[in-house]
Amino acid sequence: MSLPLPFAWLDGRLLPLAEARISPFDRGFLFGDGVYEVLPVYDGRAYRLDAHLERLDHSLRGIGMEPLLDRDGWIKVFGRLVHANGGGDQLLYLQLTRGVEAERNHVPRPGTPPTVFAFVAPLPVPPAEALERGSSAVTAADLRWARCDLKTTSLIGNVLLRWQAAQAGAGEAVLLRDGWLTEGSSSSAHVVVSGRLASPPQTHRILPGTTRGAIDEIAARVGIASEQRPVSETELRTADELILASAGAGIRAVTQLDGQQVGDGTPGPVFRRLYAGFLQTRFEFSTELPA
Ligand SMILES: Cc1ncc(COP(=O)(O)O)c(C=O)c1O
Repeated sequence: MSLPLPFAWLDGRLLPLAEARISPFDRGFLFGDGVYEVLPVYDGRAYRLDAHLERLDHSLRGIGMEPLLDRDGWIKVFGRLVHANGGGDQLLYLQLTRGVEAERNHVPRPGTPPTVFAFVAPLPVPPAEALERGSSAVTAADLRWARCDLKTTSLIGNVLLRWQAAQAGAGEAVLLRDGWLTEGSSSSAHVVVSGRLASPPQTHRILPGTTRGAIDEIAARVGIASEQRPVSETELRTADELILASAGAGIRAVTQLDGQQVGDGTPGPVFRRLYAGFLQTRFEFSTELPA
């Protein structure tokens, strides 16, 4: 994410980010005991809002926390935050932790109010060169825990994997578990084989990506055959196209994997059609956030 905009949301109020303070006894700080969401806002409208809120509640329930606000409640919070920071295109980060306790104990104390923190940053715009040339990735062993379907703030696995990619000069680590593609360290991964889009099945091993959901809908709409099925390492390495998707970075074509060309080394036809469809859905797949 780029540098944050000046106003943040913390525990029920809007305040200058520079004044936001959280106790070191917050369980998010001590244990990474919390969940988060990252959602794009186009012209003051939250893209795939319902998918994000559904996943937020899934993550909260998955770690034994209760959903906090309903849809209208979140729309009010997001609307106030986005408009306090000037509206337009932004990337919104929301984090809920299990809150602050007096002592450090693994077992959570019931009834502790959650810490709710949100900030926004300008939405990154992919450089034209990245769209024309594609990006690079390396493969890495998926060493994360067994509940990757929960978007928790315990991200050390993802951090190390992404760092590994950066050290190799690549933009993303594409993860393999026991010889099968799971996802990227911070993105969903899809391959194209003989014109068909294949996405690894939604299991506990991968995050239910909101952009992945958009890709599925766009593919159906523009007539790209798509399926959810396991993708082997061999298929990954010989695929015609490799496509990554995330709320923060949108849809990207990977044209170099482990230093080898993917397909003909340029963003392929399926990527181009999906990307064009994606740009067209920004209004339709989004929800207004009133001020
Ligand atoms: C591990 C992982 N998988 C997939 C995704 C894509 O999810 P979304 O499209 O909702 O951003 C992300 C996004 O950050 C991620 O961190």
